[in-house]
Amino acid sequence: MIEIIGPLTSPLRSAAAGSSAKPEPLQKQLIERLQRAILAGRLPAGSLLPSSRLLAAEMGVSRNTVVIAYEHLAAVGYVVADQRGTRVSPLSSPSARGEPQAQPAVPDVAYAARVGQFAATLSYADNTLPLTPGTPALDRFPVTAWRRALERSMERTLPLALGYGTPAGEPALRDAIAAHLRMARGVRCEGSQVVITEGAQEALNLCVRLFTNPGEVAWVEDPGYRGAKAAFNQGDLTTLPMPVDAEGMAVPADAWRTQPPRLIYTSPAHQYPTGSVLSVARRLELIAQARQSGAWLIEDDYDGEFRHTGEPIASMQGLVEDAPVLYVGSFSKTMFPALRTGFVVLPRAIAVHTAVALQEMLRGGHRLEQLALAHFIESGEFGRHLGRMRRLYRERQQALRDALTAHFAASQILGGNCGMHLTLRLPARIDDRVLTEHALAKGLNPRALSGFALQPRAETNGLVIGYGNTPAEQLAPAVHALAGLAGEMDGKPKRRRTAAPAATLRV
Ligand SMILES: Cc1ncc(COP(=O)(O)O)c(C=O)c1O
Repeated sequence: MIEIIGPLTSPLRSAAAGSSAKPEPLQKQLIERLQRAILAGRLPAGSLLPSSRLLAAEMGVSRNTVVIAYEHLAAVGYVVADQRGTRVSPLSSPSARGEPQAQPAVPDVAYAARVGQFAATLSYADNTLPLTPGTPALDRFPVTAWRRALERSMERTLPLALGYGTPAGEPALRDAIAAHLRMARGVRCEGSQVVITEGAQEALNLCVRLFTNPGEVAWVEDPGYRGAKAAFNQGDLTTLPMPVDAEGMAVPADAWRTQPPRLIYTSPAHQYPTGSVLSVARRLELIAQARQSGAWLIEDDYDGEFRHTGEPIASMQGLVEDAPVLYVGSFSKTMFPALRTGFVVLPRAIAVHTAVALQEMLRGGHRLEQLALAHFIESGEFGRHLGRMRRLYRERQQALRDALTAHFAASQILGGNCGMHLTLRLPARIDDRVLTEHALAKGLNPRALSGFALQPRAETNGLVIGYGNTPAEQLAPAVHALAGLAGEMDGKPKRRRTAAPAATLRV
């Protein structure tokens, strides 16, 4: 029997083996072993189990332990006992009946049509690798201050904060965000307009659920943020790509008439991923046209806090009174992605009108983190962290820019006014997807620009290179490695590492 169910771990044996973990009681171990053997068919239906005396001797446990285990298994139906002994019950699973198991069949499931619309445009590599776009400097996050804020929120609010809370989020956090946005981003808002969400992604999903019906048209920047396309797919919207140039989203003149949208996704402060800033003329035009045609603009201000050049560019939401703008923000870059906290600022009237719907749609929660975050912002810790990160990212961006200029001399570098990434255009002969695959094999994780395009074109062949999580001194060697890989793809011989600059791609 011991070959079928395996030996049990006695407390004495486990201590002698130097383990500090206490093993489960013998009786529980025996029950579990027998159950597993029965379910896996190693003890087929009808097979006779050894007597309690024999099994106790074989397993090195008391007879009473086996008797109780058998009684338990009989009570839940694994075995039946009569005068002739204890036998395994006939169970319905084929393995328990001792029959050979068939390969699990691919289930014939009728998925929702939208499931097939999600195309894997990028590989999901470890996003803490160097050059990953969008990952902040995780090792520079002020963990001690954050721990203090969490402890404070626990001390002050437990046990009440273990309940659901307000569906739209902790009022203290909504107020703190509103105050911060008014000052730092020129957003016109009060706390009552802020809805806390599970990151910007849930904010985008919420915009879709609140403002669109299936089949309606939504515009996205192309190339653009895949999360916006995913949100639109989930709402069964017809997603139309809008080109992007040096002034941001460039809407063709007749698009408002021929393809009128309900929802428009934009990232005006730092277009993702090309980095252009939406010009004021286009902002005003978008607002005027959206107002006229009853559309809503989603302003994704994902990295607007990290402005590196010139004066801060205020939000589009704050540009004019009552703009039809849904301002979306995230703490994934300003704090850390695992916090999964973002928000949407609704126009005042909308916040009032949708209050009942939101109460039914949302459940609140994450209260301790939200209260800690409110304190983190109010105490000035958040502002100080932003200041430190702005300086760090500027330094890192400069290092990346220098390295790209040295190694990819003729390639255009895009963006960099804000944020944590630069975008590099590549000539068509260097396939960006192949290059990123080779880079990944070397532990580097820039993303292929074409992966963000709905309609890939020559201008969308390139690399989106993050510097947020990569120390300045690692950027030159990393770009050197990229240039070496690109040079090999370009049919050029690999240069020796000692040559300086070692791998310069003249394209
Ligand atoms: C354009 C853009 N918006 C928003 C986000 C943040 O999303 P979330 O808050 O869901 O992490 C990201 C993150 O990479 C992004 O690139």
